Amino acid sequence: MSKVLGYTDPMSTVGIQGAPKDNPFSPAFGVLPSAFVGRDELLHDIGSGLLTGPADRSYYSVLMGNRGSGKTVVLTEMQNRAMSDGWIVLSVDAATDGLLERVNQAIYQATQTYEILAPLDTSSSKTVTRHKGMAYRGFGFGRSEADYTDLDLKRGLRGQMSNLAEIAQANETSILLTVDELQGIDREEGRRLSNDMQHLRREGLPVAFIGAALSEAKATILADKRMSFFKRCEQYDIPDIGVADALVGIGQPVREAQGQIENDALKLAAHQIDGSPYKMQLIGYNAWKVAGAPKHSIDINAVDVAISAADGIVDRDIGVPSFNDLSETEQLCLAGIAVLEGDATAPAIIDTTKMNFHTVKASLLRLVTTGYIVQDGDAYSLTGAVSDRVIWQQLGLNPANPAVSFNEHIEHSVEIVSRGSAKRTVCNKWMERAKARCILSTGHSGGCRSK
Ligand SMILES: Nc1ncnc2c1ncn2[C@@H]1O[C@H](COP(=O)(O)OP(=O)(O)OP(=O)(O)O)[C@@H](O)[C@H]1O
Ligand SMILES: [Mg+2]
Repeated sequence: MSKVLGYTDPMSTVGIQGAPKDNPFSPAFGVLPSAFVGRDELLHDIGSGLLTGPADRSYYSVLMGNRGSGKTVVLTEMQNRAMSDGWIVLSVDAATDGLLERVNQAIYQATQTYEILAPLDTSSSKTVTRHKGMAYRGFGFGRSEADYTDLDLKRGLRGQMSNLAEIAQANETSILLTVDELQGIDREEGRRLSNDMQHLRREGLPVAFIGAALSEAKATILADKRMSFFKRCEQYDIPDIGVADALVGIGQPVREAQGQIENDALKLAAHQIDGSPYKMQLIGYNAWKVAGAPKHSIDINAVDVAISAADGIVDRDIGVPSFNDLSETEQLCLAGIAVLEGDATAPAIIDTTKMNFHTVKASLLRLVTTGYIVQDGDAYSLTGAVSDRVIWQQLGLNPANPAVSFNEHIEHSVEIVSRGSAKRTVCNKWMERAKARCILSTGHSGGCRSK
């Protein structure tokens, strides 16, 4: 039997003693993992910004990263830390319209939760923070939730937040507003929120802000001059999870749930996560299941199966939607880079994709900014946000010979205008039943059509 990785905790050798635990991994978005790894520095930097106050740039932060990079759980952790320090936390997401209304609701909920904000006459059933109760002037005393929402929406977020901040300040505490999915913010609401936050910042009021967004927001929200508050926030790119952290991120939950993982199996798993915490959870979850842990030790075969399963799920949940977020020319550039493997310089990409210099340059810039590719010297390579498997599949290329297949795809699908830029690309997927290629534009909705 292979040696189990040498943890010093004697409980690690307990094996199946005690009640068997459920699967200790959390392969679902937004769920705090049982072992939260690789984020100490980030949490420390943002945390010390919050402690320092509005003068610190990190008092206003935006977390950027690809799908599944762990933005939401960092937000959750920061909220938990702030709450346990007696802060008033307002947590909303901007995935759908109605953000300002949701902030309004969160403020209302806060008045029901924090004693310092509670109406004087109904304070008995409230959750008590470490601060003494105090009246919040004009904050809906004796009114129903509907009255309150209606009235205060008209009064405006800025007024409400200012009042809330003054109460917090008088009680030596602060407010933390977190906005997840910032990339989806409605432009109009984004501009209003940006202006209101800018105002609170100018006034030096204690309202800290942490947003989380897909990296694509760098080219949209953070580039919008009318949302300058977000641009001025400290930007944190969520770092990849390294191998050392992955060893802990997979080994520790197994051990804590009274399971065992063999040394070589753990090493293989940790080396295959591609920096992604989501993939780490998927590998751990599937390895546990395949091995039949905690009854049986997780061996290298179980990890092997788990890696294949995780690849498929990451492609489906992260790769395909990320690929479909791109424009046609960006998709072709990405495919060109994948086909060229290590030799993807700008001239080589121009040659492979048959697109002109300006189109390729603009696409490369955006792909780097949004975290799909990295530049190393003259060459570009994929980051793992979209795997080559997804590219072959989405463009209908032959995985056995993607270079030849991509060349055919380009020849068939790109109509070159006289200056040499790509005018329109067609889907060009091969339809087995019709024995023909699709003639619709790349990224079309619905099924493929041959005529
Ligand atoms: N630091 C970490 N250590 C261990 N697991 C993590 C860590 N960060 C995230 N995870 C796990 O990764 C998965 C994805 O995390 P999360 O939902 O926070 O990603 P996200 O960046 O918000 O994704 P999306 O862009 O789709 O909203 C979850 O299963 C979570 O438990
Ligand atoms: Mg999220």
